[in-house]
Amino acid sequence: MAVVELQGVSKTFRDFWLRPTVKALDGLDLSIESGEIFGLLGPNGSGKSTTIKLILGLLSPDAGKVALFSRPPGSAAARKRLGYLPELSYLHSFMTARETLLYYAGLCGLDRATARERTRQLLEMTRLSDVADRQVGGFSKGMARRVALASSLIGKPELLVLDEPTSGLDPVSTDEVKTLVKELAKSGMTILMTSHLLADAQDVCTRFMILNNGRSVAQGAVADLDGSLQDCFLAAVAERRAFSVASFLKA
Ligand SMILES: Nc1ncnc2c1ncn2[C@@H]1O[C@H](COP(=O)(O)OP(=O)(O)OP(=O)(O)O)[C@@H](O)[C@H]1O
Ligand SMILES: [Mg+2]
Repeated sequence: MAVVELQGVSKTFRDFWLRPTVKALDGLDLSIESGEIFGLLGPNGSGKSTTIKLILGLLSPDAGKVALFSRPPGSAAARKRLGYLPELSYLHSFMTARETLLYYAGLCGLDRATARERTRQLLEMTRLSDVADRQVGGFSKGMARRVALASSLIGKPELLVLDEPTSGLDPVSTDEVKTLVKELAKSGMTILMTSHLLADAQDVCTRFMILNNGRSVAQGAVADLDGSLQDCFLAAVAERRAFSVASFLKA
């Protein structure tokens, strides 16, 4: 069964006067099956986060269909089965790491005992136990990212959506996230992730799609790739311009 299904999805952002500003997605078809680790790749501004927001029901498409667990995204029934790590983590800065996790546990409808036990385990897993009672407003970027990652898992979702899960993480934490993602998939969780680190995506993902200007320019199973994902990416996203340093910065 497809966990996520997009058919001919287009999304144009408009300004205050409803004038179109940018066509972020242009007739996108995408299907993610249960148990996959799906890598949504592409250059900056290619439409990855927009795709994710449509899947979550945070945006609605101008054309085409989006289904999550064969239901309209954003429905309470679909949302219950979902965990989401946003590209930028919006944490309440005055709450501690532990309070943050308990807060999300509450939103997932967990009872107090389960919430406490899962919070304890997730703090330990993300190496935050020692700082669990400090306010997240004072956390470093990587620490805040790990709080957000732990929050996305508290409800034990069937589909986990990770928008750049390793951004801001040190090499050890990055490796731990990769291991975590693979372990979660083994236990049956479906994962949709974006990343700019193509070597990491190649290690972790079972299937991928490369977006460019809101369209799919390459897709397939990672195991079927002849070369590296990096080569595939560079070939698919062809319009690379020579980079030149602004002239006023030159000696
Ligand atoms: N809320 C918005 N209002 C106006 N334009 C938007 C909005 N969100 C996204 N866009 C535009 O849609 C296009 C796709 O953006 P999106 O955030 O999906 O890219 P992305 O692939 O996630 O990029 P990145 O790798 O930089 O995160 C961009 O041109 C962006 O400026
Ligand atoms: Mg993005």
